[in-house]
Formats: sequence, C-alpha cells, structure tokens
Amino acid sequence: MTDVVDATVSDGNMTPKSDLYFPSPEVVANANVPDYLAVREKALTDPVGFWDARAKELVDWYTPYTQVLDASNAPFFKWYVGGKTNIIHNALDRHIKTATKDKLALIWEAEDGAQRRYTYHDLWLEVNRFANVLKSLNVKKGDTVTIYMGRVPELSIAMLAVAKLGAIHSVVYGGFSEQALADRINDARSKVLVTCDGAWLRGKTVNLKDIADEAVAKAPVVEKVVVYQRTNQAIQWVENRDLWWHELVANVESECETEQMDAEDPLFILYTSGTTGKPKGQLHTCGGYQVHIATTLKYVFDIKAEDVWWCAADPGWITGHSYIVYAPLILGATGLMYEGAPGYPNPDRWWELVEKYGVTILYTAPTAIRGFMRLGEAWPEKHPMSTLRLLGSVGEPINPEAWRWYYKYIGKERCQIMDTWWQTETGGFMITPTPAVPLKPGSGTLPFAGIIADVVRTNGDSTDANEDGFLVIKHPWPGMARTIWGENERYVQTYWTDFAEQGWYFSGDSARRDEDGYFWVIGRMDDVIKVSGYRLGTAEVESALVSHPKVAEAACVGIPDEVKGNVIHAFCILNAGVTGDDALVKELKDHVRHEVGPIAIPAAIEFVPTLPKTRSGKIMRRLLKAQLMGQPIGDTSTLEG
Ligand code: PRX
Repeated sequence: MTDVVDATVSDGNMTPKSDLYFPSPEVVANANVPDYLAVREKALTDPVGFWDARAKELVDWYTPYTQVLDASNAPFFKWYVGGKTNIIHNALDRHIKTATKDKLALIWEAEDGAQRRYTYHDLWLEVNRFANVLKSLNVKKGDTVTIYMGRVPELSIAMLAVAKLGAIHSVVYGGFSEQALADRINDARSKVLVTCDGAWLRGKTVNLKDIADEAVAKAPVVEKVVVYQRTNQAIQWVENRDLWWHELVANVESECETEQMDAEDPLFILYTSGTTGKPKGQLHTCGGYQVHIATTLKYVFDIKAEDVWWCAADPGWITGHSYIVYAPLILGATGLMYEGAPGYPNPDRWWELVEKYGVTILYTAPTAIRGFMRLGEAWPEKHPMSTLRLLGSVGEPINPEAWRWYYKYIGKERCQIMDTWWQTETGGFMITPTPAVPLKPGSGTLPFAGIIADVVRTNGDSTDANEDGFLVIKHPWPGMARTIWGENERYVQTYWTDFAEQGWYFSGDSARRDEDGYFWVIGRMDDVIKVSGYRLGTAEVESALVSHPKVAEAACVGIPDEVKGNVIHAFCILNAGVTGDDALVKELKDHVRHEVGPIAIPAAIEFVPTLPKTRSGKIMRRLLKAQLMGQPIGDTSTLEG
C-alpha cells in the first residue's frame, strides 16, 4: 500500500504554487475535526483502526462486532463482522430517548410554497406507521420493496420504514420511464411497489401512477401497489392491487419494533448505469455503510447541532440516499428537502430558500451551478445568504470557472467548497477536502481519511505528478457496495479485474495527481456518459434506439456541453428504405424518452450509412467522438479494413 500524499500537504508547508484557497484559522479551529490532516496521515497507515474508531464513536450496535474487516474472501469484503445493528436505530430510535426527539429532522418545501416540518419524533411515528403498513402487506426481512416517487417526505419515510423491517429498498428515480422501472422491479423481484399518483415539476404534474401501471403490466411479480396522493389527479385504479397510503396508515399502530440486522445483511439496492444495457443493482449493507456516511458527513460538511443542511440532490440517487435520508439523521441534524426544479418559478427560488430557512450548508452539482451562472449573478446578488458557511459539489468534475462563480456569488467569498468525488458503488465520499484542507478550484483535493486511493498506470505503477492514469482504491472501505444484486461474477468482472493481481478496485475514472498530491478527476474511461450529473451508459441509450423498428444500429457518444457537462450525440444506421428526416429525429427522441426517460434523450441524432468498428465488431465510439469534435482520431490500427 503506498502513501499517496505528498508530505508537503500534511505538514502545513505546502507552497502556494497555484491558486490555493486557505480556510480561515477560525474555520479550522471551529471544525469538528481541526486536526484533520494529522488524523488523515495516521489513517493512511492504519485505515482499519480509523474505521474501527468511527464505528464506535458514531454508531450504536445492539451487539458489538468481533472483527473490523474480514478480507479472507476478497473482493467480497466484510466489515464489522458479528455486529448487530439497524440504521433506523441510529437514525431515529435512539434520538427519541434524548433531547433530539423534539428537534427538527426534516423541513420540506413544496414547489407551490407549502411547507411541512417533522421533528425526530414526528418522523419516527410516520416511519413506524408505514413500517406497520408494509408488515400488513407481508413485507419481511430480506424482501425487496421498489419505491418510485416524486420528491416528497413520504419517499424518505418509505425508505426508512423498509429498513426498519430489515427489508431491502430499491428506489427508482422518478424521471425513469416504465421500461426502466419494470426492468428494475423484475431484477429486484419486488412484490410491493410504492408510488405516487403524480409529482409536481415546474408547475405541471408528471403522471407517475400511469407509468407505474405500465411498468407493473411488464412486471407481474408485483402484488400490491401503495399510492401516496400528492397531486390528486385522475388515475386508473386496480381493485385488490392498488391501495391508498393515507387509508393504510390511518389503520395501524404508531409503534413498530426495529429488526436487528447483521452488519453484512443487505440494506438497499440502487441501480446504476454501466457499459452494458442492463443496469447494475449495487448492493449496500447495514453496518459499514452507516459508519462511512456518518463519518464523512461529520468530517467533511462539519455538521453541528445548529446547522440547517441542504443536500439539493434527489433522494432517488446515491447522494440522496446517503446524504439526504440517512447520514443527517444519524448525526441528529436538520435537513431541508425541496420538491421542485432549480430556478422554478423564479431563477432565485433556491436563494430564497437559503434565506427563508437559514440554510448553513448547501451541497449541489456542477450542472446546477452552471445553470445558475447562465442566468446571471444578479439573482444571487439579491440575497446576502449570510447564514451559509460551507458549500459542496458532487456528480462530475467542476470546472474552475464554475467553482469560482459558486465561491464568489453563492458563498460570497466566505465559504469553502467541498468538492466530493465518489460513486454509487462507494456509498460515501472518497476524495474530498474537509474545512481544514486548502482548496484548489476543480480538485477534490485528497483521499478521505481511511481511504487509500492512487492514480496508476496499466501496470499498477503510480503515475508521476500531472500524468493521467487510472483512479484506483487500494484498500477496502466500509461503505463499498458488496456486490451487484444477484451477479457476483459481474461485480468481480466490472471492478476487480483490471488490477486483479494487486487486488485493487478500479473506479472507471481517469485522474491525475499534481505536484502537491492533489487529485484531479478527469472523467469516465468507460462507455458511461454524465449528462447533468446523471449517469447513463451509452449501451442503454443505444439499445433504446435500436429497439425502434426503423433503426438498424446505433452508437452514442458524450460531447462537452457548457451547462450539462456532456450531452449525448447519437449516430443511427436506418433500416433499408427508411428516410432519415426531422420527423424521424423527433420520433426517435420520443422513443428514448419512453424507453429510458427524459434524461437519456440525445441532444442530436445523426443518420449515417456506416459506423466505424474494430475487426472484432466493436463500435469505435472514441473515433466518432474525435471526428465530431474535430480532434485527431488517434490510433486506428484495430479499425475494420
Ligand atoms: O465520474 C465520476 C463522477 O460521477 C461518477 C459516479 O456517478 P454516480 O454513481 O452517479 O454517483 C454520483 C454521485 C456520487 C464517478 O465515477 N463524479 C462524481 N463526483 C465527482 C465526479 N467526478 C469529478 N468530481 C466529482 N466530485
């Protein structure tokens, strides 16, 4: 295991060669972990000791674990072996016995301005009731429940209730179409689906129940559909299958016992895009996940009792799972959730929210920041946002220009920006600053304490300063996904074969490390495209396109976009006799919307007679991209003659 950090960083003698943003001495002194760099340095040689201490400090166990890490069956690592726990015990139950009981756990603002406030006690009662509802539907420990909802508190409540029973939730983002939903329900084999009649988005309703109905038609495994009434719109109703949330919760007790889980029992499945069309169900488990997310939120975002924390992601993604739903509750924090889209109905809606609720920490994505940049600084300039003390970024590399804008106009040059690199697979932050770390715009700075990351060449040697390489993790960490649901082989193949000899995890990202040891993530090395921070596999969009009767073959590439980071450019070969015109472009875009969801719609569709392929028949997307961007096309020696 190599120490990847340039010693000049941790001994405080770092030379300010580039533009460095040092935290003020007060910020460091008041941080939860002022001596973070020293703690981190120590953890580099003893990551297991670091994670052992955190598991004792931040999480309660029904039965203590007997071994911190079991690496005997790598890469199927086990953490906190023998420990019994439930994340709901730590997120809710234990707080009901302390003064935190009456503290606000969750503030929710609807798109139309309506508000709801839940104390820890309120949330605990709601979760108990919904857990009893699920019990009455025969949901038991180990069963999966699929959740497909808009951004309402009931989404969190449903997840927490599933976890309370020791069942496994699979949340499907509300922007996915019925085919994507059906595939995920079938893969997880969920007998119960929880959904809404509809969701509000930019003043309009999205017909979630209609989509759910079509999905269930393709997923006969579903026996019961619980419907939360949000929009009151007209919906189809299937007797004996569909049940109203409000009717069910009215008839149950408000106490419910929390299931005692083994540290390695499954907690949830969350599907991610990969290099094939079939999404990967990342499986996270009960023990290690909670330790990782609680530690990182406490250290990185420096959560204190009086903070109002706003993670503006969707609960349906890993960012929402870890840092909207679970970690803030484990730490006894107050979180804000906003139902609507950024900039709706006014471009300064978010800044109004910051002021209205006294938000102290805001965590969002570069694509949102670039969207606000385009609207101009006049909007945030109307709002002093004096409560803000820390900012965060996640989802894709943040370009220095957006970083500086965020720093200047949102943080008013007062707030450090935590650029957190991580993945659905990692469960929690992996490369990130804390308030005690000097920042460089566009760099996620250093691997977190207890995380051993490196940038390496194909042969495993560490790269030189500023040389691009593969971003790898050299030591297991507690929040790591344990497998792909039902596909152990695929898990090994995807993450653990590129550096199998060394036993390292390959993230799929390329990165470089600079002369100060700071990490700069460049982007994906596989066929994954990040559009507005959403992760899409080229294969997913391509298989949607070729499922259209007029398309013979398709290839998709990501090309840079000022706001979205990347957009999809699709190339299609049409079947004989079909004419490619504007009407067909529209038809294909609608088809992709229907098959995958609006996030996957290509920005451009180009009709071509052939696609460049290797002799083995693999489409050379790299070449297509280079051609599109007017770049040199590089090595074409494997191109079909
Ligand atoms: O390419 C990296 C990029 O997002 C990928 C993971 O996507 P997903 O599983 O959807 O999780 C997103 C939220 C954690 C990574 O492989 N990525 C994420 N955060 C950053 C990033 N790239 C650069 N900088 C980041 N801060």
